[in-house]
Amino acid sequence: MSQHEEHFEYSQPGEDRLFEHTYDGIQEYDNPLPGWWKNIFWASIVFAFFYVFHYHMGGLGQSIHADYNQEVAAYNVKLAKLEAERAKLSIDKQITAVLKDKKALADGRTLFVENNRCSQCHGTAGEGGIGPNLTDNYWIHGPKAKNMFRVIRYGGREGKGMIAWGKKLKYQDMIKLVAYVTTLRGTKPANPKPPEKDAKLYNKAN
Ligand code: HEC
Repeated sequence: MSQHEEHFEYSQPGEDRLFEHTYDGIQEYDNPLPGWWKNIFWASIVFAFFYVFHYHMGGLGQSIHADYNQEVAAYNVKLAKLEAERAKLSIDKQITAVLKDKKALADGRTLFVENNRCSQCHGTAGEGGIGPNLTDNYWIHGPKAKNMFRVIRYGGREGKGMIAWGKKLKYQDMIKLVAYVTTLRGTKPANPKPPEKDAKLYNKAN
């Protein structure tokens, strides 16, 4: 042991100190790691030990995998509830409800003729005019309530004149309108407009 090694003191933070040894003419600074860094290093080793025990070796913690399964299960329960609600709210069911409710159905007719909203193009009795006849079995967009709902809410084909009423009417009012329009089919108004050239013939059942 050489003399200077006996007296060696580690350098303090902020002060540059050379080790006193020299190898092949190369000298080395003494840069100790800061205390906080070493503390974190040791703490992480201790933490890892508890972590492995807690989550992987029968401790109380749940593994990520089990966490995931639990969340998926909870989500599926939620989804099932939402789907059940949605099924309840299917357009057909809502229309059926309005058809059974005389007052709501009368609202549908009012909405149709009020301010000439729909009747200006489809006629007061749905016989057609600028817009297609709504009483026959010919339909451009389909004869089902959900087809009608779609056209009324989002509009007809570009440039044909049937606007998207979804921006102007309340959802429930559109449901009432559709219900009312379904009751027009099969009626025999005076002066029915002949089928549009793009309309398809459906049989009464659909
Ligand atoms: C400015 C004229 C105009 C007004 C107002 C209008 N429509 Fe129309 N409507 C049309 C035209 C034109 C079409 C055909 C659209 C197409 O060719 O895509 C149509 C199509 C429809 C269809 C589908 C017909 C089919 O054969 O598939 C329904 C249902 C309908 N309208 C209901 C309504 C209701 C309900 C209202 C009132 C909220 C209304 N329309 C207001 C012009 C109008």
